[in-house]
Amino acid sequence: MLPQVANGLERGVYVPANLSNSSVIKLMGKWFQIPPGDPYYCVVGSPIAHSKSPDIHLAFGKQFGIALRYQRVDVPANCFANAVTEFVLEGGRGMSITVPLKEEAHVALAKLKPRAALTGAVNMMTVNSDGVTIGDNVDGIGLVRDLTRNHGLSLIGKRILLLGAGGAARGVIPSLLEENPGELNIVNRTLTKAEDLVSRFSSLGSLEAFDYESLPNGPYDIVINATSLSLSGELPPLGATTIGSLTSCYDMMYTIDGRTRFLEWCRDHGAVACYDGLGMLVEQAAKSFSIWHGVEPDTTSVIATLR
Ligand code: ATR
Repeated sequence: MLPQVANGLERGVYVPANLSNSSVIKLMGKWFQIPPGDPYYCVVGSPIAHSKSPDIHLAFGKQFGIALRYQRVDVPANCFANAVTEFVLEGGRGMSITVPLKEEAHVALAKLKPRAALTGAVNMMTVNSDGVTIGDNVDGIGLVRDLTRNHGLSLIGKRILLLGAGGAARGVIPSLLEENPGELNIVNRTLTKAEDLVSRFSSLGSLEAFDYESLPNGPYDIVINATSLSLSGELPPLGATTIGSLTSCYDMMYTIDGRTRFLEWCRDHGAVACYDGLGMLVEQAAKSFSIWHGVEPDTTSVIATLR
């Protein structure tokens, strides 16, 4: 339910939403009463029932004694703009944004951080004290932190293969290029989509587009699956030479036991290490948490709890 416009507040003193439990906020030129309660956050997407984001953010909050509400909200495609307006009117402070809303969020929010503008996708949003929504994309930071901090991989000078050219791939390319890999190849079923990403990000570093038929032989140092194939337990049509005995493989999808069909295939072809995307999920949440609360949570203990 939307709160009512607060009576007479046009002449009242403005109280920023983050300074009071029960406060008012100015939005689109009008003052609104914010309901009392702990600061409110949520994750939006569809389907959303499986999301682990509430558990992760509440666990981070406990580390610092920060009380917060964090809910799952099912928001189907084409409904993001309405959902975000309602959220702000309810006094929401920040939102995590997942499939299928990342591109919608990119066009619906008032302001964008440069990395969100660059990727064309938004995976988290902050409401500032004036009710202005600021979109950001911390997926790439989450992936790189998981690879480097949790799994001890260096990307510098490495030969990296990224599978897929959809929203998931697009969101992480700038962060991968920031690590100065020797080579970043994007392989996709639809070559033109991979070529579009190369045009979009070519100023950030060296990357090349291929379809599966033209992909140069491996082995690669790191192979990252950003296709949606793992969701249906299918495999990308990769040749066996992609993987060598020193190849580390990463699936951006996660499972409770850390196993995916793609990672099984990589293991069968001799990969030295295989990781699913649970750590990426927790690391991008940690970055969001630090933006919202100004403190860096411990992620190792939270990843261990979720397994
Ligand atoms: P997401 O937001 O999860 O990235 P997406 O934008 O729909 O979802 O992208 C899905 C990715 O998985 C794309 O790279 C897609 O390839 P196309 O661009 O050719 O569609 C890839 N993908 C999906 N099904 C596939 C299949 N059967 N074989 C190979 N790649 C597939």
